Amino acid sequence: MDNICCNWQIETKGNPKNMNYKKNILITGGAGFIGSHVVRLFVNKYPEYHIINLDKLTYAGNLENLKDIENQPNYTFVKADICDFDTIMSMFRQYNIDGVIHLAAESHVDRSIKDPFTFAQTNVMGTLSLLQAAKLSWENDFSNKLFYNISTDEVYGALLMDDSFFVETTKYDPHSPYSASKASSDHFIRAFHDTYGMPTIVTNCSNNYGPYQFPEKLIPLFINNIVNNKPLPVYGKGENVRDWLYVEDHARAIDLIFHKGKAGETYNIGGFNEWKNIDLIKVIIKTVDKLLNRPEGTSEKLITYVTDRAGHDLRYAIDSSKLKEELGWEPSLQFEEGIEKTVKWHLENQEWMENIISGNYIFN
Ligand code: NAD
Ligand code: DAU
Repeated sequence: MDNICCNWQIETKGNPKNMNYKKNILITGGAGFIGSHVVRLFVNKYPEYHIINLDKLTYAGNLENLKDIENQPNYTFVKADICDFDTIMSMFRQYNIDGVIHLAAESHVDRSIKDPFTFAQTNVMGTLSLLQAAKLSWENDFSNKLFYNISTDEVYGALLMDDSFFVETTKYDPHSPYSASKASSDHFIRAFHDTYGMPTIVTNCSNNYGPYQFPEKLIPLFINNIVNNKPLPVYGKGENVRDWLYVEDHARAIDLIFHKGKAGETYNIGGFNEWKNIDLIKVIIKTVDKLLNRPEGTSEKLITYVTDRAGHDLRYAIDSSKLKEELGWEPSLQFEEGIEKTVKWHLENQEWMENIISGNYIFN
Protein backbone atom coordinates (compact mmCIF):
# COMPACT_ATOMS: atom_id res chain seq x y z
CA MET A 1 0.00 0.00 0.00
CA ASP A 2 1.33 3.48 -0.83
CA ASN A 3 1.62 6.14 1.81
CA ILE A 4 -1.89 7.44 2.25
CA CYS A 5 -0.80 10.68 3.87
CA CYS A 6 2.06 12.99 3.30
CA ASN A 7 5.47 11.80 4.50
CA TRP A 8 5.89 12.22 8.20
CA GLN A 9 9.13 12.79 10.00
CA ILE A 10 9.37 10.12 12.67
CA GLU A 11 10.75 11.35 16.00
CA THR A 12 11.21 9.10 18.99
CA LYS A 13 11.70 10.03 22.59
CA GLY A 14 12.17 7.75 25.58
CA ASN A 15 13.79 4.37 25.81
CA PRO A 16 13.47 2.46 22.56
CA LYS A 17 15.34 -0.55 23.90
CA ASN A 18 13.92 -3.71 22.48
CA MET A 19 14.54 -5.66 25.66
CA ASN A 20 12.89 -8.87 26.59
CA TYR A 21 9.53 -7.40 27.38
CA LYS A 22 6.61 -9.74 27.87
CA LYS A 23 4.54 -7.66 25.45
CA ASN A 24 5.22 -4.73 23.13
CA ILE A 25 2.06 -2.67 23.04
CA LEU A 26 1.40 0.11 20.56
CA ILE A 27 -0.98 2.72 21.97
CA THR A 28 -2.03 5.29 19.37
CA GLY A 29 -3.25 8.74 20.40
CA GLY A 30 -1.56 8.42 23.79
CA ALA A 31 -0.85 12.15 24.02
CA GLY A 32 -4.57 12.94 23.91
CA PHE A 33 -7.11 12.94 26.72
CA ILE A 34 -8.14 9.28 27.16
CA GLY A 35 -4.95 7.93 25.60
CA SER A 36 -2.77 9.65 28.21
CA HIS A 37 -4.71 7.94 31.01
CA VAL A 38 -4.38 4.57 29.28
CA VAL A 39 -0.63 5.06 28.70
CA ARG A 40 -0.07 6.11 32.34
CA LEU A 41 -2.03 3.11 33.65
CA PHE A 42 -0.19 0.59 31.47
CA VAL A 43 3.31 2.06 31.99
CA ASN A 44 2.91 2.09 35.79
CA LYS A 45 0.99 -1.16 36.18
CA TYR A 46 2.98 -3.32 33.76
CA PRO A 47 6.75 -2.73 34.00
CA GLU A 48 7.10 -6.03 32.12
CA TYR A 49 5.46 -4.46 29.02
CA HIS A 50 7.06 -2.01 26.60
CA ILE A 51 4.51 0.74 25.89
CA ILE A 52 5.01 2.57 22.62
CA ASN A 53 2.89 5.70 22.37
CA LEU A 54 2.43 6.81 18.77
CA ASP A 55 0.89 10.24 18.30
CA LYS A 56 0.98 12.87 15.59
CA LEU A 57 0.60 15.67 18.17
CA THR A 58 -2.24 17.42 16.43
CA TYR A 59 -3.81 20.39 18.24
CA ALA A 60 -5.32 17.79 20.65
CA GLY A 61 -2.08 15.98 21.49
CA ASN A 62 -0.09 17.32 24.41
CA LEU A 63 3.01 15.70 25.90
CA GLU A 64 2.43 17.65 29.12
CA ASN A 65 -0.31 15.09 29.77
CA LEU A 66 2.42 12.47 30.30
CA LYS A 67 5.18 14.41 32.09
CA ASP A 68 4.99 12.12 35.14
CA ILE A 69 5.82 8.94 33.19
CA GLU A 70 7.92 10.14 30.27
CA ASN A 71 11.20 8.89 31.76
CA GLN A 72 10.00 5.44 32.74
CA PRO A 73 12.24 2.74 31.22
CA ASN A 74 9.33 0.82 29.66
CA TYR A 75 7.94 3.86 27.79
CA THR A 76 8.74 5.16 24.29
CA PHE A 77 7.10 8.06 22.49
CA VAL A 78 7.01 8.14 18.70
CA LYS A 79 5.77 11.20 16.85
CA ALA A 80 4.14 9.88 13.70
CA ASP A 81 0.92 9.91 11.70
CA ILE A 82 -1.22 6.76 11.68
CA CYS A 83 -1.95 7.44 8.00
CA ASP A 84 1.74 7.05 7.14
CA PHE A 85 1.70 3.36 6.30
CA ASP A 86 5.46 2.96 5.70
CA THR A 87 6.32 4.43 9.09
CA ILE A 88 3.71 2.32 10.86
CA MET A 89 5.01 -0.78 9.11
CA SER A 90 8.58 -0.05 10.15
CA MET A 91 7.44 0.51 13.74
CA PHE A 92 5.75 -2.88 13.83
CA ARG A 93 9.07 -4.42 12.73
CA GLN A 94 11.32 -2.34 14.96
CA TYR A 95 9.33 -2.89 18.14
CA ASN A 96 7.91 -6.32 17.40
CA ILE A 97 4.43 -5.10 18.27
CA ASP A 98 2.02 -7.74 19.53
CA GLY A 99 -0.88 -5.63 20.74
CA VAL A 100 -2.50 -2.43 19.51
CA ILE A 101 -4.82 -0.17 21.52
CA HIS A 102 -6.03 2.33 18.98
CA LEU A 103 -7.23 5.68 20.28
CA ALA A 104 -5.75 8.15 17.77
CA ALA A 105 -8.56 10.04 16.12
CA GLU A 106 -10.10 13.36 15.35
CA SER A 107 -12.58 13.40 18.22
CA HIS A 108 -14.61 16.61 18.27
CA VAL A 109 -18.08 16.61 16.68
CA ASP A 110 -18.17 20.39 16.05
CA ARG A 111 -14.89 20.24 14.13
CA SER A 112 -16.21 17.33 12.04
CA ILE A 113 -19.15 19.47 10.93
CA LYS A 114 -16.73 22.12 9.64
CA ASP A 115 -14.05 19.78 8.23
CA PRO A 116 -15.28 16.24 7.51
CA PHE A 117 -12.31 15.38 5.25
CA THR A 118 -9.78 15.34 8.10
CA PHE A 119 -12.09 12.99 10.00
CA ALA A 120 -12.34 10.55 7.10
CA GLN A 121 -8.58 10.72 6.57
CA THR A 122 -7.49 10.06 10.15
CA ASN A 123 -10.35 7.98 11.50
CA VAL A 124 -10.98 5.81 8.44
CA MET A 125 -7.75 5.76 6.40
CA GLY A 126 -5.52 5.98 9.47
CA THR A 127 -7.28 3.01 11.07
CA LEU A 128 -7.01 1.08 7.81
CA SER A 129 -3.29 1.81 7.62
CA LEU A 130 -2.78 0.43 11.15
CA LEU A 131 -4.92 -2.63 10.42
CA GLN A 132 -3.01 -3.40 7.24
CA ALA A 133 0.35 -3.04 9.01
CA ALA A 134 -0.85 -5.35 11.80
CA LYS A 135 -2.13 -7.88 9.28
CA LEU A 136 1.11 -7.97 7.28
CA SER A 137 3.17 -8.23 10.48
CA TRP A 138 1.05 -10.88 12.16
CA GLU A 139 -0.58 -12.92 9.41
CA ASN A 140 1.68 -15.94 9.77
CA ASP A 141 0.73 -16.28 13.41
CA PHE A 142 -2.17 -14.41 14.98
CA SER A 143 -1.78 -16.17 18.35
CA ASN A 144 -1.32 -13.82 21.31
CA LYS A 145 -2.02 -10.81 19.10
CA LEU A 146 -4.82 -8.28 19.53
CA PHE A 147 -6.03 -5.17 17.72
CA TYR A 148 -8.29 -3.26 20.10
CA ASN A 149 -10.25 -0.30 18.71
CA ILE A 150 -11.54 2.39 21.08
CA SER A 151 -14.85 3.59 19.68
CA THR A 152 -17.82 5.64 20.73
CA ASP A 153 -21.52 5.28 21.54
CA GLU A 154 -22.21 7.92 18.87
CA VAL A 155 -22.05 5.25 16.14
CA TYR A 156 -25.45 4.00 17.36
CA GLY A 157 -27.18 7.29 16.53
CA ALA A 158 -29.58 8.96 18.95
CA LEU A 159 -32.16 7.73 21.46
CA LEU A 160 -35.53 9.22 22.29
CA MET A 161 -36.24 10.65 25.75
CA ASP A 162 -37.40 7.29 27.07
CA ASP A 163 -35.85 4.43 29.00
CA SER A 164 -34.09 2.83 26.00
CA PHE A 165 -30.33 2.11 25.94
CA PHE A 166 -27.70 1.30 23.35
CA VAL A 167 -26.71 -2.37 23.57
CA GLU A 168 -23.94 -4.13 21.66
CA THR A 169 -26.39 -5.30 18.98
CA THR A 170 -27.98 -1.89 18.37
CA LYS A 171 -27.83 -1.12 14.65
CA TYR A 172 -25.27 1.50 13.63
CA ASP A 173 -26.95 4.78 12.65
CA PRO A 174 -24.34 7.56 12.79
CA HIS A 175 -25.44 11.15 12.17
CA SER A 176 -22.40 13.43 12.37
CA PRO A 177 -19.31 13.24 10.15
CA TYR A 178 -17.39 12.30 13.32
CA SER A 179 -19.66 9.37 14.17
CA ALA A 180 -19.83 8.30 10.51
CA SER A 181 -16.02 8.12 10.43
CA LYS A 182 -15.88 6.16 13.70
CA ALA A 183 -18.59 3.77 12.47
CA SER A 184 -16.59 3.20 9.31
CA SER A 185 -13.43 2.42 11.26
CA ASP A 186 -15.36 -0.06 13.45
CA HIS A 187 -16.61 -1.78 10.28
CA PHE A 188 -13.04 -2.10 9.00
CA ILE A 189 -11.94 -3.63 12.32
CA ARG A 190 -14.69 -6.26 12.10
CA ALA A 191 -13.95 -6.85 8.41
CA PHE A 192 -10.32 -7.69 9.28
CA HIS A 193 -11.57 -10.11 11.93
CA ASP A 194 -14.10 -11.79 9.67
CA THR A 195 -11.98 -11.82 6.49
CA TYR A 196 -8.43 -12.46 7.71
CA GLY A 197 -9.06 -13.95 11.16
CA MET A 198 -7.29 -11.07 12.92
CA PRO A 199 -8.07 -11.04 16.67
CA THR A 200 -9.89 -7.74 17.20
CA ILE A 201 -12.07 -6.12 19.83
CA VAL A 202 -14.22 -2.98 19.59
CA THR A 203 -15.51 -1.07 22.59
CA ASN A 204 -18.08 1.70 22.38
CA CYS A 205 -17.91 4.14 25.25
CA SER A 206 -20.05 7.05 26.40
CA ASN A 207 -18.86 10.62 27.17
CA ASN A 208 -15.67 10.76 29.23
CA TYR A 209 -14.61 13.57 31.56
CA GLY A 210 -11.67 14.20 33.88
CA PRO A 211 -8.13 15.68 33.89
CA TYR A 212 -6.32 16.50 30.62
CA GLN A 213 -9.45 16.81 28.44
CA PHE A 214 -8.93 19.34 25.67
CA PRO A 215 -10.92 22.50 26.48
CA GLU A 216 -13.08 22.46 23.36
CA LYS A 217 -15.24 19.80 25.05
CA LEU A 218 -18.17 20.81 27.26
CA ILE A 219 -16.82 20.09 30.76
CA PRO A 220 -13.29 21.57 30.61
CA LEU A 221 -14.51 24.50 28.47
CA PHE A 222 -17.21 25.38 30.98
CA ILE A 223 -14.94 24.96 34.05
CA ASN A 224 -12.42 27.33 32.48
CA ASN A 225 -15.09 29.85 31.48
CA ILE A 226 -16.67 29.85 34.94
CA VAL A 227 -13.27 30.41 36.58
CA ASN A 228 -12.69 33.35 34.20
CA ASN A 229 -16.26 34.74 34.29
CA LYS A 230 -16.83 34.10 30.60
CA PRO A 231 -20.15 33.15 28.92
CA LEU A 232 -21.19 29.48 28.90
CA PRO A 233 -22.51 28.71 25.37
CA VAL A 234 -25.34 26.18 25.82
CA TYR A 235 -26.40 24.67 22.49
CA GLY A 236 -30.15 24.87 21.80
CA LYS A 237 -32.20 24.58 24.97
CA GLY A 238 -29.68 22.49 26.89
CA GLU A 239 -32.11 19.56 26.77
CA ASN A 240 -29.77 17.01 25.15
CA VAL A 241 -28.74 14.07 27.30
CA ARG A 242 -25.28 12.49 27.60
CA ASP A 243 -24.08 9.56 29.72
CA TRP A 244 -20.89 10.57 31.59
CA LEU A 245 -18.01 8.37 32.71
CA TYR A 246 -14.87 9.35 34.65
CA VAL A 247 -11.90 8.80 32.35
CA GLU A 248 -9.93 6.60 34.77
CA ASP A 249 -12.89 4.22 34.89
CA HIS A 250 -12.71 4.01 31.09
CA ALA A 251 -8.95 3.33 31.28
CA ARG A 252 -9.59 0.53 33.82
CA ALA A 253 -12.17 -1.00 31.50
CA ILE A 254 -9.70 -0.87 28.59
CA ASP A 255 -7.06 -2.63 30.71
CA LEU A 256 -9.53 -5.35 31.70
CA ILE A 257 -10.85 -5.87 28.17
CA PHE A 258 -7.37 -5.87 26.63
CA HIS A 259 -6.41 -8.73 28.97
CA LYS A 260 -9.66 -10.65 29.42
CA GLY A 261 -11.92 -9.66 26.51
CA LYS A 262 -12.82 -12.18 23.84
CA ALA A 263 -11.51 -11.63 20.31
CA GLY A 264 -14.25 -10.80 17.83
CA GLU A 265 -16.44 -9.26 20.54
CA THR A 266 -17.87 -5.82 21.15
CA TYR A 267 -18.32 -4.35 24.63
CA ASN A 268 -20.25 -1.22 25.57
CA ILE A 269 -18.72 0.94 28.31
CA GLY A 270 -20.82 3.50 30.17
CA GLY A 271 -21.65 4.86 33.57
CA PHE A 272 -25.47 4.50 33.73
CA ASN A 273 -25.12 8.21 34.45
CA GLU A 274 -27.36 10.31 32.22
CA TRP A 275 -27.52 14.07 32.54
CA LYS A 276 -29.43 16.71 30.63
CA ASN A 277 -26.78 19.26 29.56
CA ILE A 278 -28.39 22.13 31.46
CA ASP A 279 -28.57 20.11 34.70
CA LEU A 280 -24.96 19.01 34.31
CA ILE A 281 -23.90 22.62 33.69
CA LYS A 282 -25.60 23.65 36.95
CA VAL A 283 -23.63 20.96 38.85
CA ILE A 284 -20.39 22.31 37.33
CA ILE A 285 -21.34 25.88 38.25
CA LYS A 286 -22.18 24.86 41.81
CA THR A 287 -18.90 22.95 42.21
CA VAL A 288 -16.66 25.69 40.79
CA ASP A 289 -18.39 28.44 42.79
CA LYS A 290 -18.06 26.36 45.98
CA LEU A 291 -14.36 25.65 45.45
CA LEU A 292 -13.68 29.32 44.64
CA ASN A 293 -15.63 30.41 47.75
CA ARG A 294 -18.17 32.30 45.64
CA PRO A 295 -21.79 32.48 46.91
CA GLU A 296 -23.89 29.59 45.51
CA GLY A 297 -25.38 30.39 42.11
CA THR A 298 -22.99 33.31 41.36
CA SER A 299 -22.01 31.97 37.94
CA GLU A 300 -25.49 30.98 36.71
CA LYS A 301 -25.70 34.37 35.04
CA LEU A 302 -23.00 33.17 32.62
CA ILE A 303 -25.37 30.67 31.00
CA THR A 304 -25.94 31.82 27.40
CA TYR A 305 -28.22 29.90 25.04
CA VAL A 306 -26.73 29.80 21.53
CA THR A 307 -27.65 28.28 18.15
CA ASP A 308 -27.92 24.51 18.36
CA ARG A 309 -25.27 22.14 16.92
CA ALA A 310 -26.33 20.93 13.44
CA GLY A 311 -27.79 17.42 13.64
CA HIS A 312 -27.41 17.47 17.45
CA ASP A 313 -28.15 13.95 18.73
CA LEU A 314 -30.86 14.14 21.38
CA ARG A 315 -29.79 11.45 23.83
CA TYR A 316 -27.09 8.80 24.35
CA ALA A 317 -27.29 6.12 27.03
CA ILE A 318 -25.13 3.01 27.24
CA ASP A 319 -26.13 -0.32 28.68
CA SER A 320 -22.83 -1.79 29.92
CA SER A 321 -24.34 -4.91 31.57
CA LYS A 322 -22.44 -7.26 29.25
CA LEU A 323 -19.14 -5.89 30.54
CA LYS A 324 -20.33 -6.17 34.13
CA GLU A 325 -21.67 -9.70 33.75
CA GLU A 326 -18.82 -11.15 31.67
CA LEU A 327 -15.78 -9.32 33.05
CA GLY A 328 -16.98 -7.76 36.33
CA TRP A 329 -16.34 -4.10 35.41
CA GLU A 330 -18.29 -1.28 37.06
CA PRO A 331 -17.65 2.46 37.29
CA SER A 332 -16.00 3.32 40.61
CA LEU A 333 -16.81 7.02 41.00
CA GLN A 334 -20.11 8.73 41.71
CA PHE A 335 -20.65 11.63 39.30
CA GLU A 336 -20.59 14.50 41.85
CA GLU A 337 -17.34 13.06 43.23
CA GLY A 338 -15.84 12.82 39.73
CA ILE A 339 -16.85 16.40 38.87
CA GLU A 340 -15.37 17.71 42.13
CA LYS A 341 -12.11 15.84 41.42
CA THR A 342 -12.04 17.26 37.88
CA VAL A 343 -12.72 20.86 38.98
CA LYS A 344 -10.05 20.59 41.73
CA TRP A 345 -7.57 19.26 39.18
CA HIS A 346 -8.25 22.25 36.92
CA LEU A 347 -7.86 24.72 39.78
CA GLU A 348 -4.56 23.10 40.82
CA ASN A 349 -3.21 22.83 37.24
CA GLN A 350 -4.06 26.18 35.74
CA GLU A 351 -0.71 26.29 33.96
CA TRP A 352 -1.79 23.29 31.87
CA MET A 353 -4.78 25.28 30.60
CA GLU A 354 -2.75 28.48 30.15
CA ASN A 355 -0.22 26.63 27.97
CA ILE A 356 -3.04 25.39 25.76
CA ILE A 357 -4.62 28.80 25.45
CA SER A 358 -1.25 30.40 24.62
CA GLY A 359 -0.38 27.59 22.19
CA ASN A 360 2.89 26.83 24.02
CA TYR A 361 1.95 23.18 24.59
CA ILE A 362 2.48 22.28 20.94
CA PHE A 363 6.23 22.78 21.27
CA ASN A 364 6.75 20.59 24.35
P1 NAD B 1 -8.36 13.53 21.85
O1 NAD B 1 -8.80 14.39 20.72
O2 NAD B 1 -8.15 14.14 23.19
O3 NAD B 1 -6.97 12.83 21.45
C1 NAD B 1 -6.75 12.27 20.18
C2 NAD B 1 -5.25 12.02 20.04
O4 NAD B 1 -5.03 11.42 18.74
C3 NAD B 1 -4.39 13.29 20.10
O5 NAD B 1 -3.27 13.09 20.94
C4 NAD B 1 -3.94 13.50 18.66
O6 NAD B 1 -2.68 14.14 18.54
C5 NAD B 1 -3.89 12.05 18.14
N1 NAD B 1 -4.04 12.00 16.69
C6 NAD B 1 -4.99 12.60 15.93
N2 NAD B 1 -4.78 12.32 14.63
C7 NAD B 1 -3.69 11.51 14.56
C8 NAD B 1 -2.99 10.88 13.51
N3 NAD B 1 -3.36 11.06 12.23
N4 NAD B 1 -1.93 10.10 13.80
C9 NAD B 1 -1.53 9.93 15.09
N5 NAD B 1 -2.15 10.52 16.14
C10 NAD B 1 -3.22 11.30 15.87
O7 NAD B 1 -9.38 12.33 21.89
P2 NAD B 1 -9.99 11.54 23.15
O8 NAD B 1 -11.17 12.26 23.64
O9 NAD B 1 -8.90 11.18 24.06
O10 NAD B 1 -10.52 10.23 22.39
C11 NAD B 1 -9.65 9.14 22.16
C12 NAD B 1 -10.39 8.05 21.42
O11 NAD B 1 -11.51 7.63 22.18
C13 NAD B 1 -10.96 8.50 20.07
O12 NAD B 1 -10.83 7.43 19.17
C14 NAD B 1 -12.41 8.80 20.36
O13 NAD B 1 -13.19 8.59 19.20
C15 NAD B 1 -12.71 7.76 21.42
N6 NAD B 1 -13.77 8.11 22.38
C16 NAD B 1 -13.75 9.32 23.03
C17 NAD B 1 -14.73 9.59 23.98
C18 NAD B 1 -14.74 10.90 24.75
O14 NAD B 1 -15.69 11.16 25.48
N7 NAD B 1 -13.72 11.73 24.66
C19 NAD B 1 -15.74 8.65 24.24
C20 NAD B 1 -15.74 7.44 23.52
C21 NAD B 1 -14.73 7.17 22.61
O1 DAU C 1 -20.43 10.07 23.40
C1 DAU C 1 -19.05 9.93 23.23
C2 DAU C 1 -18.51 11.16 22.55
O2 DAU C 1 -18.52 12.20 23.52
C3 DAU C 1 -17.09 10.97 22.00
O3 DAU C 1 -17.12 9.98 21.01
C4 DAU C 1 -16.56 12.29 21.43
O4 DAU C 1 -15.22 12.12 21.02
C5 DAU C 1 -16.61 13.34 22.53
O5 DAU C 1 -16.20 14.58 22.00
C6 DAU C 1 -18.03 13.46 23.09
O6 DAU C 1 -18.93 14.02 22.09
P1 DAU C 1 -20.05 15.11 22.48
O7 DAU C 1 -20.40 15.86 21.27
O8 DAU C 1 -21.15 14.47 23.25
O9 DAU C 1 -19.20 16.01 23.53
P2 DAU C 1 -19.11 17.61 23.71
O10 DAU C 1 -18.30 17.84 24.97
O11 DAU C 1 -18.67 18.31 22.48
O12 DAU C 1 -20.61 18.02 24.00
C7 DAU C 1 -21.35 17.48 25.07
C8 DAU C 1 -22.75 18.04 24.99
O13 DAU C 1 -22.71 19.44 25.31
C9 DAU C 1 -23.38 17.95 23.63
O14 DAU C 1 -24.79 17.70 23.77
C10 DAU C 1 -23.17 19.33 23.01
C11 DAU C 1 -23.21 20.24 24.23
N1 DAU C 1 -22.33 21.43 24.16
C12 DAU C 1 -21.03 21.26 23.84
C13 DAU C 1 -20.17 22.34 23.78
C14 DAU C 1 -18.72 22.16 23.41
C15 DAU C 1 -22.86 22.69 24.46
O15 DAU C 1 -24.04 22.84 24.79
N2 DAU C 1 -22.01 23.77 24.40
C16 DAU C 1 -20.69 23.65 24.07
O16 DAU C 1 -19.97 24.68 24.01
